[in-house]
Amino acid sequence: MASVATDIRISPLAPVLPFGATIAGLTRDNLDDPAMRRRLNDLWIEHGVLLFRDGESSQDMHLELSRCFGDLEPHPFPESRQAGAPDLVKIKFYPEDGSYYDIGGDLRGGWLPWHSDLIYTHRINHGGILRPVQLPDIGGETGFIDQIAAYERLPHSLRERIEGLHVVYHVDVDMSLQPFVDQGDARLIRMAASGTQIEKRKFTYPRVIHPMVYTQAETGRKVLNVSPAFALGIYEDGTAAGDALLREVVAVCTDPALAYVHAWQPDDMVLWDNWRTLHSARGVPIDQTRVMERTTIRGDYALGRPLGLDGPVADFDV
Ligand SMILES: [Fe+2]
Repeated sequence: MASVATDIRISPLAPVLPFGATIAGLTRDNLDDPAMRRRLNDLWIEHGVLLFRDGESSQDMHLELSRCFGDLEPHPFPESRQAGAPDLVKIKFYPEDGSYYDIGGDLRGGWLPWHSDLIYTHRINHGGILRPVQLPDIGGETGFIDQIAAYERLPHSLRERIEGLHVVYHVDVDMSLQPFVDQGDARLIRMAASGTQIEKRKFTYPRVIHPMVYTQAETGRKVLNVSPAFALGIYEDGTAAGDALLREVVAVCTDPALAYVHAWQPDDMVLWDNWRTLHSARGVPIDQTRVMERTTIRGDYALGRPLGLDGPVADFDV
């Protein structure tokens, strides 16, 4: 049956939440209207996270909707790409394959703590859209925290201390070894086959740095730009004092009081602005299967730098 372009309905993502909107009734035909594409872009920049619900949802809709917000790019790790569909990242946990962790006695498959996507590269993507392919019977929620609201919650003294500083990031797929993730006593029990391949070559990727604060170009709002996962420390201060400062900031940017936790319905799609939002995967019981597809919306806020051979590395005095 042909879809019909009708007007969308916009409502808050959740009560009292300082970010996010729900867009209901979006059809494939809506996306042929340039005015609608501009409107969706404006909503994305304003609200940071958009839930598309009670509209059309399919792989084709997922890809075309994503292209409203920019060009798509393949994931930098070939292991993460969907076979035959390079613009899709396959995020999966199966009882027989997938990383899982023991978190205080709770076994969680596909758990990913708070992070920005591709923060371990110098050119982080502007956003992504997630769509479920196979949902678990229980669990599998995705958390989001807006970092414009997080910046506004930072005490002024802390804002002054982090202005102009950068965080160093690197590739590491073992989330139990992340020094700035407050994961309690998380232990990796099994690494996904794809993660094992990435881990083998993790030292071949350059470290990168990103500023701890930046200004959203369209609105002038300041964004707290810190991903606890993949972080190694503060570039300008590798001492214990620098680490303590970063931990203070992480406590604010991952404050559960600021979070929205999304419980997925089969036809949902969720878009987030990766330049102003942290997200996390809560994981599933290890007898469950969860398969999601994600697009990667290209962009470059031009503030990241690699610390490789061409980067500003210090010389050894030998
Ligand atoms: Fe992610």
